[in-house]
Parts: sequence; C-alpha cells; structure tokens
Amino acid sequence: MTSTLITNIAELVTNDPEADDLLGAISDAALVVEGARVAWVGRAADAPATDERLDVGGRAVLPGFVDSHSHLVFAGDRAQEFAARMGGKSYAAGGIRTTVAATRAATDEQLTAHVARLVQEMRRQGTTTVEIKSGYGLTTKDEARSLAVARQFTEETTFLGAHVVPADTDPAAYVELVTGAMLEAAAPYAKWIDVFCERGAFDDDQARTILAAGRQHGLRPRLHANQLGPGPGVRLAAELGLTAVDHCTFLEHADVVALRDSGTIATLLPGVEFSTRQPYPDARALLDAGVGVAIASDCNPGSSFTSSLPLCVALAVREMGMTPAEAVHAATAMGARALGRDDIGALMPGKRADLMVLDAPSHVHLAYRPGVPLVQSVWLGGRPQM
Ligand code: NIG
Ligand code: FE
Repeated sequence: MTSTLITNIAELVTNDPEADDLLGAISDAALVVEGARVAWVGRAADAPATDERLDVGGRAVLPGFVDSHSHLVFAGDRAQEFAARMGGKSYAAGGIRTTVAATRAATDEQLTAHVARLVQEMRRQGTTTVEIKSGYGLTTKDEARSLAVARQFTEETTFLGAHVVPADTDPAAYVELVTGAMLEAAAPYAKWIDVFCERGAFDDDQARTILAAGRQHGLRPRLHANQLGPGPGVRLAAELGLTAVDHCTFLEHADVVALRDSGTIATLLPGVEFSTRQPYPDARALLDAGVGVAIASDCNPGSSFTSSLPLCVALAVREMGMTPAEAVHAATAMGARALGRDDIGALMPGKRADLMVLDAPSHVHLAYRPGVPLVQSVWLGGRPQM
C-alpha cells in the first residue's frame, strides 16, 4: 500500500475529541495517508518516512464536509417561487407538489444526471459524504426509483415517502401506502426513514406510525421538525431517541431540554432560512444547553437550493451565533454523528482519508471570506479528486 505524506499544512483540523480545543487543530502539521485511510497526524517536524510527499504550501487541511441532509433527486426548479417569496410571499409546504410533477415526468437517466451534477457541485465545495432523500416521487414506483438513483451516489439514503400527501389523495390512505407497499419497495435502497412532521404535511401521530413501520423494515428513523412553526416534532424525536432531528427553527424551552436529555442531535439548515426569509434557528441556545448541533445544506429546489456547506458555515457564524470553530465542527464531526458514522468527519489514524485543502491558512476563512471558492482540492478515500 502506498503511503503519502501531506505536509506544510498551516492548520490541520483533526476533530480529535480528546484534544483541548474543539477542532483538535495542529499547526505546522502533516498527515500520512495509507490506502483509503489516515495513518498518522502530527507536527510536520515529526513526520515519518513515506513513499510519496505532497507540499500544500501553508494551506489548511480539514475533514471533508459531511452533508447529512439533502434532497437531490428531483427535476425542474422553483426559481419563480423563490422570486415571489423575495417579493413578499411566504413559504408553504405545498410547493413540494410542483417538484413532484416534474420528477415523475423525468426519466431515470435524467434524474441520475441531475444528481451527478449536484454531487459534483458539492465535491467542489468540500463535501465528501452526502445523505440523499427521496420524497419527490410519492408513488411506490417513483419513490423506489428515486432511492435507486440516490444509491448510486451514497450509502446514506433516506426514504421520505412521507414528504407531503400528494394532491387529491386521502391522508389516511396515503399513510397506509407509505407504511405498506411503498415502504416494501423503498426499503432495499434505503438506510433511513424520514417524515416531514409539520402543519400541512404529517402530524406527530402519523409520524410515529410511519417511523415505527420503517423500523420494522430495518430502517433508521429521523425527522424534519419545527421548520415552519412550533410543534410536537422535536419532542417526538427526543422521545423516540432519534440520532438526529432536522430544521429545529422554532424551538420552545421544553424542546431544548428534551434534546439535551435524549442526546438527539439538532441538525440546523441555515440555507432554508436564507432562502425563505424565516428567522434563523438559535444555535447558541442549543449549544449553551449542551445539545449537539450539526449543520447541513438541505439542498432542494424549494426551500434551500444551495449545495454549498461553506455558505452554510458562514451563515451559521454570522446569523446563528456560532463561532467559526463550532460551525466547522458542526459541518464535519457532527454531520458524521448525525449519520451514525464513526469512520468519517475526523482526520485521525484509522479514519477515512476524506479531506479538503483550503486555499487559506485556517478554517476561520470559511466564514471570514464568504462566497469565495476556497476549496483547492478534495480527497476521497485517500485519492485526490480535483
Ligand atoms: O427540508 N421541509 C420539507 N422538505 C424540504 C423542502 C421541500 C420543498 O420545498 O421542495 C425541506 O425544507
Ligand atoms: Fe429537508
């Protein structure tokens, strides 16, 4: 197995949980990659001998972003809806149905090409792992094929048949379909099951039923909750002991306490608040209460059409009260935890060598220089991609 030394790293973010600082940052650092894994990290002066050597010229090296929440399988866009929102209209869950019609009309090849393009966009911005949901098919056939498309790109696939009740459909009959034939068809391609628990989508009783059915099929439950207003979703997630609950925009004190007590991670999606002009979630209150916070893109054509975790990190810092270190940690180590993964999100011996080299000397620049394409190169499983 070839070993490669990456050296002359001004700042190496390891996310070592044992370190004194949150990011386990090492200055004047080096890292050894062996095969797909990290074999060694430390000060450059102490680096071992290797087969190959790469000098990154005083740049920062970080774990690749782990984007734990996206909806990449869709067709068409909703630029007009966005423009109308910026003109004063408000966001509503029903817009999803526009994308459902376009997605059903697309071929598998068109959907695959579109996901490939978005995944490539993400890679160029430092994302090395992405979770992808279904949810714009809403028939047994269209949900199963959406997940089959997603599976070509990631093992982190999520069945979201319970995104919204399709037009002209009885809600109870639809829940029966989602927990029956649709789940049967989707489960072979999915690791997770998700429900949009919100007024206008599914209530907490329906969410409970759907997640329980998913569990019986071996899927791991997660939830969209408290995105558009206060509601029971976050407390349900805590009660069920879910790994993560996503959005968490409108939280009451009892929600924060419930998350703290259950250890459920709050995955915040600042691209949504940017694109819907809603208030940003209060990350500071969550962190100060001891709740684990992850950041993801929620990339989708309705509420957040960005594939950029650097943008989300910058928004989290500027608008949500997070420090640059907290935001970077949330988009890497915490994203990995939100997916129940311990092989990614950190650069320590034994972890996957999924990393980015920034054209900047430290992680702070991701928020300090918003909108600037700072990701110089990305390595996936020990191999440079760009
Ligand atoms: O995560 N909240 C539900 N689903 C997406 C939005 C979907 C859409 O508007 O198309 C979200 O924000
Ligand atoms: Fe979402």
